[in-house]
Amino acid sequence: MEEHAVHENVVVNSWNEWDPLKHVIVGRADFSCIAASEPGCDFVNEIPKDGVMRGMYGPRPLETVEAANAQLEGFAQILEKRGVTVSWAEPIQWNRAVSTPEWSAETLFGCMPPRDVLLTVGREILEATMSYRSRWFEYLAYRPLLQRFFQEDPGFRWEAAPKPRLTDASFRPGYLSPDVSDEQRRQWVTDKVFVTTEEEPLFDAADVTRFGKDLFVQNSFTTNRSAIDWLQRHLPHHRIHAVNFPGDLHPIHIDASFAPLRPGLILSNPMRQLPDDQKDIFERNGWEIVLAAQPVHEHRPPLCEGSVWLAMNCLVLDPKTICVEASEVNLQEQLDKLGFEVVPVPFRDVYAFGGGLHCATADVYREGTCEDYFSKQ
Ligand code: NVA
Repeated sequence: MEEHAVHENVVVNSWNEWDPLKHVIVGRADFSCIAASEPGCDFVNEIPKDGVMRGMYGPRPLETVEAANAQLEGFAQILEKRGVTVSWAEPIQWNRAVSTPEWSAETLFGCMPPRDVLLTVGREILEATMSYRSRWFEYLAYRPLLQRFFQEDPGFRWEAAPKPRLTDASFRPGYLSPDVSDEQRRQWVTDKVFVTTEEEPLFDAADVTRFGKDLFVQNSFTTNRSAIDWLQRHLPHHRIHAVNFPGDLHPIHIDASFAPLRPGLILSNPMRQLPDDQKDIFERNGWEIVLAAQPVHEHRPPLCEGSVWLAMNCLVLDPKTICVEASEVNLQEQLDKLGFEVVPVPFRDVYAFGGGLHCATADVYREGTCEDYFSKQ
């Protein structure tokens, strides 16, 4: 592995999910939309059907945007008090129709979850392909920051994965139909048949979790095997491992399923466990996988398409300190017993905009270097 000398102009450096965090990007809720249905996703039908905007797409209610931004600002203040520099995503007007020569979409989505778009691997930030048409242009919210990092840090590797075509060939017709039974869905995810096809590499950055030299990538609705192959070719000094969580009938993004907390310790969603043959590498290398405590809430917040398991979408500040949503006392108690200082952060008003505390951030700088935690492959 190539070593990079640390010098004072280093802005971007982060190799894993737990080393001491010094600089992070935080998302914003402004102009966020419920995106119109499209071949790869059906937000309109996935959010709870009991609220305003039932069956509608378009801008989210202003009071919900203001409440989310207030909690995002509160989170940023907590981070800054603990010595973490916060850089903000820069929203554009997401409520607009867009097109490429091959498709058009009625609305964009938003930039609350930078984790979905930006994958930081050491001195590199890689813009993901994304896998929904409504999220194709989301990189624009991060370009002002990435341009600045590029100017300030001579060793920063600014990369973008090939922009996907996202024609109908990239999606399996009828896959998301409400007429499909859970039994059929269970069979599909077990067989690794997802809504996205293997037509072209497709991934969201939030399907990747980083352990130094090893990256574990969830093969899911939003990340196909072609993208996992692309990532291995793009990062030849790393080992890329595909993982699956067949208990999840709607697998999207790894960080409410499987989350490393510190060297040797991983938090796993008890409803979405790794198949036994995929657990081996962790056991062989001395990693303990603990099952996360039951979320406090039985229901997700209004207009939220994520699950109650956003409870385990925590942000690790260093191997002894972790941010957890303020109302998730079961998980807080569990982490306290595991030896962490828990920092409670009110965040339920943000969930509907695309996720929890980990989703809402993207690493810019963590201390530390690239280590090999899996010498027994
Ligand atoms: N589909 C996931 C999102 C993870 C960040 C869930 O809500 O469980």
